[in-house]
Amino acid sequence: MPPSQIYFIAFFVFNILLCAAYFRFKTKSDEIFLDKKVFEKREIEEIFEKRKIIYNRACKALPLIEEFVKNESSFEDLLKFHDQIHDVNFPLPKIPEISCKTNVIPRSSVFNASESMNLLICLPPKCGTSNWQKAIDVHFLNITQGQKAAKEFEEKIKNNTAGMEVYGLIPRIKTEKLFRAKENGEDPKNIYKSKYKVANVRNPFARVFSAWHDKMRNGTDHLIKYGKYFEAIGVFEDFENIPANYFYSFEAFVEYIASNPGDSKKNGHWGTLFRQCSACSLNFSLITHLENSKKEIPFLLEKINLKNEINVGGQYTWNGTKRILEESDRPPDELHWQNVPKETAKLIYKHYYLDFIIFGYSTEEVLKYVHSSNSRKQRPASDKITSSRKYLQSFGKQNDHFKKFSDFICTN
Ligand SMILES: *[C@@H]1O[C@H](CO)[C@@H](O)[C@H](O)[C@H]1NC(C)=O
Ligand SMILES: *[C@@H]1O[C@H](CO)[C@@H](O)[C@H](O)[C@H]1NC(C)=O
Ligand SMILES: *[C@@H]1O[C@H](CO)[C@@H](O)[C@H](O)[C@H]1NC(C)=O
Ligand SMILES: *[C@@H]1O[C@H](CO)[C@@H](O)[C@H](O)[C@H]1NC(C)=O
Ligand SMILES: *[C@@H]1O[C@H](CO)[C@@H](O)[C@H](O)[C@H]1NC(C)=O
Ligand SMILES: *[C@@H]1O[C@H](CO)[C@@H](O)[C@H](O)[C@H]1NC(C)=O
Ligand SMILES: *[C@@H]1O[C@H](CO)[C@@H](O)[C@H](O)[C@H]1NC(C)=O
Repeated sequence: MPPSQIYFIAFFVFNILLCAAYFRFKTKSDEIFLDKKVFEKREIEEIFEKRKIIYNRACKALPLIEEFVKNESSFEDLLKFHDQIHDVNFPLPKIPEISCKTNVIPRSSVFNASESMNLLICLPPKCGTSNWQKAIDVHFLNITQGQKAAKEFEEKIKNNTAGMEVYGLIPRIKTEKLFRAKENGEDPKNIYKSKYKVANVRNPFARVFSAWHDKMRNGTDHLIKYGKYFEAIGVFEDFENIPANYFYSFEAFVEYIASNPGDSKKNGHWGTLFRQCSACSLNFSLITHLENSKKEIPFLLEKINLKNEINVGGQYTWNGTKRILEESDRPPDELHWQNVPKETAKLIYKHYYLDFIIFGYSTEEVLKYVHSSNSRKQRPASDKITSSRKYLQSFGKQNDHFKKFSDFICTN
């Protein structure tokens, strides 16, 4: 055999080996990739499963959680009890046999899309909910009124003319129905029969900042809508740190919430998730955290059978008064708390204690914020706190719809 032929055969054999090696490697890496996907999916499934268990444990323990908010428990006591409810292997303590009613609120955040999507979904304000809202609106119209209506609405969203219509298309639940069921000795959980019951929530520390960022901005109708809270906030203002185009500083706003415990006279944008979602009167089985939405939403959509039907857009944030889409442009949320006194941050935890526990936020997610608050700064003088509370109490008396609403719902 001439040497050129030997070279040729050797070259040919070498190439075959190379191809074999390549394909072997490729299938291996595909397998690894697949394994990773399966693993991630299982991980998310477990997160949802755990949140559901915690939700049910916390609702059972509701009278005790309220006790902790009412009595003089220390911050450490609150954390300890929070951890116990979250440890699904920890036996629940003995719970006093008292009944908890359900509050009637003027505008629930829970949407009844039972006929169109077999879905009940809580989308509280300031939880990145607009994207969800728009997505299910289009699908809702498509089902109830047809393609043309859906397309038109999609256009409106794109050209920014949909406005408040976005929040009014799908009917909201009537909390009176839950209230009445309870009064009649029925289980309010059986009133709304959708197969899928979803709550989309956000860490209350981040949500409070978002509420301030949006609503305390000197925007179109903000003075008219939120002006009634201004006196209660203004007593805490030092007028040195108000960002341009804002009515009050974040620090004054947070102080107002911390100084006025209870939720009954709060605006829905910074009222508790517990109240906006009628938690514990509805049996949510899927709880999703905005913080982890990139991973959770695709899984959730698959779970509720809307994977191919709707497209929930990304989180948004603000640059000045302009909305921007890039999540990576966001500074870490906890940095906003740097000028808030530590004692105030701890009171914010207490204020939203039910939300943290019931919707599955861990104590680490609380401490992240409390640790970045300011341990050198003092809370305001007590006369200011009293004064803020006075404004709010007189405000409550003038507003009829607050009469059926109480700060605490469990009583003997
Ligand atoms: C507050 O109430 C809880 C629940 O009843 C109880 O375990 C705890 O000891 C109380 N703490 C104080 C300081 O009274
Ligand atoms: C939920 O909405 C459907 C219509 O989409 C309605 O038939 C049903 O009565 C509503 N459920 C309740 C409890 O109001
Ligand atoms: C409406 O539904 C149809 C049929 O399921 C689908 O092909 C279409 O893309 C939907 N349109 C919109 C605007 O969502
Ligand atoms: C926005 O889209 C809607 C629906 O297609 C249309 O009726 C309306 O004229 C558009 N408005 C603007 C300002 O483009
Ligand atoms: C919770 O909701 C589901 C579906 O909506 C219902 O079938 C079930 O009976 C409810 N569970 C309780 C405890 O009410
Ligand atoms: C809010 O905006 C209005 C109209 O632009 C302006 O007259 C008013 O001074 C502003 N107020 C504050 C507190 O920025
Ligand atoms: C925010 O807007 C300012 C002014 O338009 C721009 O210079 C800056 O790059 C923007 N920042 C982000 C994170 O988009």
